[in-house]
Amino acid sequence: MEIRLSGVSHTYDDFEVLQDINLDIPDGRIVCIVGPSGCGKSTLLRFIGGLERPTHGDIVQIGDPPKGCLNPLTYIFQDFALLPWRTVRGNISLVLEDHGIGGAAAQRIIDDVLARTKLSDFAHALPKQLSGGMKQRVAIARALAVNPAVMLMDEPLSALDSQTRELLMDDLIALWTRAPFTAVYVTHNLAEAVRLGHSIVVLSRRPGRIREIVHLDRPLDERAYGDADLEAKQKHLWDLMRDEARAADAELMNV
Ligand SMILES: Nc1ncnc2c1ncn2[C@@H]1O[C@H](COP(=O)(O)OP(=O)(O)OP(=O)(O)O)[C@@H](O)[C@H]1O
Ligand SMILES: [Mg+2]
Repeated sequence: MEIRLSGVSHTYDDFEVLQDINLDIPDGRIVCIVGPSGCGKSTLLRFIGGLERPTHGDIVQIGDPPKGCLNPLTYIFQDFALLPWRTVRGNISLVLEDHGIGGAAAQRIIDDVLARTKLSDFAHALPKQLSGGMKQRVAIARALAVNPAVMLMDEPLSALDSQTRELLMDDLIALWTRAPFTAVYVTHNLAEAVRLGHSIVVLSRRPGRIREIVHLDRPLDERAYGDADLEAKQKHLWDLMRDEARAADAELMNV
């Protein structure tokens, strides 16, 4: 399934947050959204997920969700959002129960997503017994259990230390390589975006407009260190981000 945003703008009362966003989220691709704090990244993700509606513009879904999809648009948040009194298995079974799936069918799905996220040995652990990285893997497993058309990820790795972030990026790339999924991945971390994104959308400071969309045409599973073209794009992205962050700071100083 593909998602197309046309002319999406939004104001909260008189407060303009997003301006004329035109964007395609192609099927089977990871689109990263970067931009300065407060530029409207999370708001845009909420619109894509249908949690809120923009004041202007259209967001349409093109094509059908994958077979067996229980929830086409599924979120993964920074804070994992696990129920502390439920085991890993219990947290995943909850979303299946919500869709009326129990018994052997649920067990099959849970076994599959636990294996894919390398959590089979921790099925009976409680969240408090897990590291931050493992908790986020449970959240990813829970998202995969509903076989979503598009995963909406809002700074999913920001609460983790840098080493755990690296490992989880490897895990996400391995998951995508085995079974490509569609994702919108919001981050303020350019290195994450360059590592995971097929394309990177740079938003301006608020009101968020698209400064540029940079396509990184390279396979995700090969670390393209030393690739001159990728390095040039990375430098260009960093220049754009720095411009916006500096301009945002300058505006704050003038308030
Ligand atoms: N429900 C709301 N009502 C009023 N203003 C809001 C609401 N939600 C967000 N905003 C404002 O809209 C702007 C954009 O917020 P948003 O959370 O989308 O930014 P962001 O790019 O995700 O920021 P960050 O990088 O800090 O997560 C902010 O100035 C925020 O205060
Ligand atoms: Mg945000």
